Amino acid sequence: MKTVITYGTFDLFHVGHVKLLQRLSDMGSKLVVGCSTDSFNQLKGKRTVYPYQQRKLLLESCRYVDKVFPEENWEQKREDIIRESASLFVMGDDWAGKFDSLSDIVEVFYIPRTPDISTTEIKTYLSVRNEEKDQEIRNLLTRALGLMESK
Ligand code: CTP
Repeated sequence: MKTVITYGTFDLFHVGHVKLLQRLSDMGSKLVVGCSTDSFNQLKGKRTVYPYQQRKLLLESCRYVDKVFPEENWEQKREDIIRESASLFVMGDDWAGKFDSLSDIVEVFYIPRTPDISTTEIKTYLSVRNEEKDQEIRNLLTRALGLMESK
């Protein structure tokens, strides 16, 4: 039995997350995920749309995930790996090299991210759409005021 362990925030659960979790579950027989808590994200300077309990619930409802536990700090990984009897520690390659120091107790891998999708990109897309909508409303109001004044 090979347990794979990974970590992440997994906000606005998207297809890049699903593909990562699918590949991770193919690498072993059990997949455990450390999901960053809201206070840990705050420490990292990251603000999420969904709070921890919702991100955890979404991860738990993914068929590739067997267990979700809270990631509360940078230092807990060794303890988690031992507690979960994990033999593979895998992250997307945006983290390449960052966790190599764990390789004395676990095999460490970084796998390619799915291109062209990220939580940050979704947030940017939504804020641009909001900005466009705001501008449309401003234009409509200006036109309406112009019509009223010309009467
Ligand atoms: N991930 C991936 N492919 C993507 C996006 C994320 O494989 N397109 C992986 C990351 O490499 C990480 C895990 O999913 O191992 C969780 O990443 P997370 O930072 O929560 O997701 P992002 O979409 O990268 O979020 P952000 O833009 O806020 O960093």
